[in-house]
Amino acid sequence: MTTIPVTLVVNGRAYSLEIEPHETLLHVLRERLGLTGTKANCEEGECGACTVLFDGRPVNSCLLLAVRAQAGPVQTIEGLTAEGRHAALQEAFAQEGAIQCGYCSPGFLLASAALLDRNPRPTQGEIVFALSGNICRCTGYSKILMAVRHAANEGSQE
Ligand code: FES
Repeated sequence: MTTIPVTLVVNGRAYSLEIEPHETLLHVLRERLGLTGTKANCEEGECGACTVLFDGRPVNSCLLLAVRAQAGPVQTIEGLTAEGRHAALQEAFAQEGAIQCGYCSPGFLLASAALLDRNPRPTQGEIVFALSGNICRCTGYSKILMAVRHAANEGSQE
């Protein structure tokens, strides 16, 4: 199989890789870079478990070919945690009980972080819309929505 040289910038670090043309960003993150915080679930763009930030916007990494991901920086949950960026958001998820099995949490946290970056004081409707691509089977969503509101309120008091 022919491979293609690519350079991906993930969590601020450049990786030079030889990848196959059909490889998804999800596969490369998990299998080549060992960044398993990005979850693989449906792999059809339905659940949002594989959400990462691409050029600051949430995307389903299972639908993005890795060769196309060269066009912008990628941030995974490992980057969000390591930078301490949105620590208040992560704290709010814990405080509000917005995490149960935790499988969907990286995707929800990244989608929420992207929302708060572009809109620090979102309405309830804006939060619901921003998280509409992410599925959670445990929490019933209300605690996740409360956690994002909680983080937004904390941010507005700084
Ligand atoms: Fe990508 Fe479900 S694993 S949307």
